[in-house]
Amino acid sequence: MKQIDLDVKSDAGIKNIDEDHNAIFSYIKKLQAIVNQPKNHEYAIVILENLLAFFLEHVIKEEQLLQQYLPAKLVEDHISLHQSELNYLDESIRTLKVKLSSDNIQTIAVRLNQEFKNHIYRYDKNIMQKLIELKRLR
Ligand SMILES: [Fe+2]
Ligand SMILES: [Fe+2]
Repeated sequence: MKQIDLDVKSDAGIKNIDEDHNAIFSYIKKLQAIVNQPKNHEYAIVILENLLAFFLEHVIKEEQLLQQYLPAKLVEDHISLHQSELNYLDESIRTLKVKLSSDNIQTIAVRLNQEFKNHIYRYDKNIMQKLIELKRLR
């Protein structure tokens, strides 16, 4: 297990993806932090717009990496997951532009946290593991 961790660190592409994942969670934490700060609610839209732009760049990189090594079906399914999350981010921004409330920000932050925990810790982690194994066999 330790060996694999080291390999992750030595691989620039995968390390970069890992750093992006940490950044995604810091956007969500920033959003959670302002739920009870009405003065800062306007900032929720900026955070989500920045997260959307950052996530879009991230998925382009991640999908390119996956397309190089993994079976088409697996890549396709993962691209659909990315697409549904991009849609949710878009929808959330529109929701807050209509009604900027603590409740709405809270609901969005909780859902994003669950969604990305599942996505990153379950799917991305598995996929990156497969990539590492394949690279070692080459
Ligand atoms: Fe990812
Ligand atoms: Fe992903």
